[in-house]
Amino acid sequence: MKAIRFTTYGDPSVLELAEVQKPIPHSGEALIRVAATTFNPVDAAIRAGVLQQQFPLTLPHIPGIDVSGVVTAVGADVDRSLVGSSVVAFLPMAANGAAAEYVTAPANLLATAPVPVPLSDAAALPSSGLTAWQALIDHAGVYAGSRVLVNGAGGGVGGFTIGLAKHLGAHVIATASPRSSDAVRAAGADEIIDYTRIPVIDALTEPVDFVVNLVRTSPAELAALRDRITDRGALVSTTTPAVADASRNVRGENVFVRSDAQQLRNLVSLLDRGVLRLDVSARYPLAELPQVHALGERGQLRGKTVVQIAV
Ligand SMILES: NC(=O)c1ccc[n+]([C@@H]2O[C@H](COP(=O)([O-])OP(=O)(O)OC[C@H]3O[C@@H](n4cnc5c(N)ncnc54)[C@H](OP(=O)(O)O)[C@@H]3O)[C@@H](O)[C@H]2O)c1
Repeated sequence: MKAIRFTTYGDPSVLELAEVQKPIPHSGEALIRVAATTFNPVDAAIRAGVLQQQFPLTLPHIPGIDVSGVVTAVGADVDRSLVGSSVVAFLPMAANGAAAEYVTAPANLLATAPVPVPLSDAAALPSSGLTAWQALIDHAGVYAGSRVLVNGAGGGVGGFTIGLAKHLGAHVIATASPRSSDAVRAAGADEIIDYTRIPVIDALTEPVDFVVNLVRTSPAELAALRDRITDRGALVSTTTPAVADASRNVRGENVFVRSDAQQLRNLVSLLDRGVLRLDVSARYPLAELPQVHALGERGQLRGKTVVQIAV
């Protein structure tokens, strides 16, 4: 089968299109014919070799942590009726990924794919949707009527974070540059701060109950945002570590997204019901994955970028 893989760590040029052996599903696994995978910022960090401690890989490695596709075979101890199902999953990060015609995945991580979107676009959901879910629900505890600042809302995680926070009944303030403002508004943001015109800390006039930080920011900038959070609120960060303010019972929570099939099913259901939307801003063929990594590293991607294997 065709796959993109890297045999050494390095810049995007280490990604090479290769003919590799089709994987075989072992006990507990499903074999998926891949429709699409995505680009996530972590893919570039893994490829560059800066996350070897967190994600010890066996090289050569096939990247791609999100998958949408169709189950074509299952291993022992997996329900055979899964064969033929359209599925999505957030794959184990140290295993071979979905930048390939086929990938194996633990069957207990799969969720049925959403109905209203093309199967290849559905790859945009798993890791970014789960990050939003875990940030807002597991870490923050966002509730109806609360005020939530989503800092860095124009990216892949941001759109889901806005949509989910609105679904939870929150008032959402989002930071976005002009290229993302329409998408952020469409996702449901009540207020938009153009961070290219005014620093978010200056634009934020009223306190918020929760900050979901999706931007690589300085510890000082993050502490300044935390100081705008109401007592007993929370600062939740996917990037720069969040520091609590114990004197006011403001929690500091760091997200390390994990695969969770039930949460993914909940997200699919929200997509099926039109509560959540996908913000797929670009689609590339598998062979162009090196260019996608280069664009991502230069900050030239917004929303979710999907890498199509079979449409
Ligand atoms: N810890 C975890 O488990 C975990 C999980 C998922 C993601 N993450 C991390 O979370 C971050 C967000 O992920 P993502 O997938 O959404 O990234 P992404 O798609 O690459 O986000 C890019 C967006 O960031 C926005 N941005 C850049 N600088 C900004 C600034 N100074 N202020 C406000 N927005 C800014 C840009 O928005 P505009 O288009 O509006 O300019 C851009 O569209 C990444 O650093 C990622 O590595 C961590």
